[in-house]
Amino acid sequence: MTSQARFEPTILVIFGAGGDLTRRKLVPALYNLLLDQQLPERFAIIGVARKNLDNDVFRERLREGITRFSRRGEVDAATWDAFAGNISYLSEDLTHPAAGSALRTRLEEIEGEWGARANRIYYLAVPPVMMQPAAIMLQRLGVCRDCAHDRLVVEKPFGRDLASARSLNHFLNDLFVESQIYRIDHYLGKETVQNILAFRFANSLFEPIWNRRYIDHVQITVAETVGVEERGEYYDHAGALRDMVQNHLLQILCLIAMEPPITFDADDIRNKKVDVLRAIRPIRPEDVHRVAVRGQYLKGSIADEKVVGYRQEENVSPVSNTETYAAFTFHIDNWRWQGVPFYLRTGKRLPAKVSEVAVVFRSPPHQFFPSAAVESWQPNRIVIRIQPQEGIGTMIQVKQPGTRLLLGGAEMKFLYSEAFKTSAPEAYETLLLDVIRGDATLFMRADQVDSAWQVVAPILEAWEAVPATDFANYPAGSWGPAAADHMVARQQHNWLQPARTAETG
Ligand code: BG6
Repeated sequence: MTSQARFEPTILVIFGAGGDLTRRKLVPALYNLLLDQQLPERFAIIGVARKNLDNDVFRERLREGITRFSRRGEVDAATWDAFAGNISYLSEDLTHPAAGSALRTRLEEIEGEWGARANRIYYLAVPPVMMQPAAIMLQRLGVCRDCAHDRLVVEKPFGRDLASARSLNHFLNDLFVESQIYRIDHYLGKETVQNILAFRFANSLFEPIWNRRYIDHVQITVAETVGVEERGEYYDHAGALRDMVQNHLLQILCLIAMEPPITFDADDIRNKKVDVLRAIRPIRPEDVHRVAVRGQYLKGSIADEKVVGYRQEENVSPVSNTETYAAFTFHIDNWRWQGVPFYLRTGKRLPAKVSEVAVVFRSPPHQFFPSAAVESWQPNRIVIRIQPQEGIGTMIQVKQPGTRLLLGGAEMKFLYSEAFKTSAPEAYETLLLDVIRGDATLFMRADQVDSAWQVVAPILEAWEAVPATDFANYPAGSWGPAAADHMVARQQHNWLQPARTAETG
């Protein structure tokens, strides 16, 4: 049996197919799966969007997207022709009461040609206001009723606060069975994010020390050099807390902090992650200013290139109060983590694109070295680099060479690119393949989304109630507002500079 023959015939319907996600991420990922013989032999894509386009223009746009954004670059003409033959486009206004009949006909045509009922995957890459009309249409057409074969993929943002996320969850759960719904958080498809589970639970070395007895604190940094790019309109209504923290950063936190699951079953793993979210100490409104810091970038320069401030970006209000940087202190109230602060930060227009988790260990209980030997002594830490230069480094103290006893830091490191010669799949490749296979482990369950919104809700409310008075408060190209340094300094900590570990990495 070839690897492709394992899969059932599949039709992927992308709503919002005219958007950037389809061109930059989804179709390049599908094309790479094809090259790796990971797509079903019978596989068709139907792009649905409002705009009037013909099939050829749509296909050309996708081809150009693959050339620009795929990790493998330029398409191969013959492979592309075969792939493109199964791509078609439909122009639909999802809000129209009669929308969708062309879609049903197209599904039936394809399945008629194949002589088989396909697995149907409906990918909602649409703005939040269009989620409900799209879901209602699918229900009305009756094309997403077979729980074993029909799936719905929901892109972020999943709601804009706890109440709207809850109402979207209720709405979707009324129309579909929970096991049909795949809520995407693309960070969960990243190779190194998945490797956190392997690192923690496939090695007996780390788990015994992965707790409050040995760990002093944890830092999670997701830094970006880009600004809002062409997404000013979306971003100005979202901000860093909604765009990055409620989803990506909290999911990383869950993987670092969760208890070992009993089995690799999707629900076992997701239950353990929800436990972490539920254990995060609720933030009282009067404490928000102590444990949460927001920032917005001023003009500045990144890699010697001058960039404008956030309020000068296209489609952003010149008096915007939206945060482009956010940093927090969270505490997890359970036996494993009591008293261990988790610091999270993310921001746009920071000096480096780097995502990493630093687990900082406690000092040895008794320091007997002469004080001159430990002048540059630092606690051990494990740094999990999510991107770039994916890998894991362990900082240890060693005796520096020489006749004097002097201790200093050295790194034991594992780099994906050195250890394995194959290039890792992009997050969307992993996630799309999982939807095709029907494996929901890396997707968000309704209660996970709900719990994550509950964690950030008090901060969101406090920030909305009282606009920032110091915006814009960090120059583009800096590591964010000074208040974030003060927040960790209050607990005698400081942010580790990811660029320094990048140099050694
Ligand atoms: C998206 C956010 O979810 O993640 C973007 O909406 C952000 O604002 C992006 O730039 C970052 O993803 P990655 O994979 O480049 O780290």
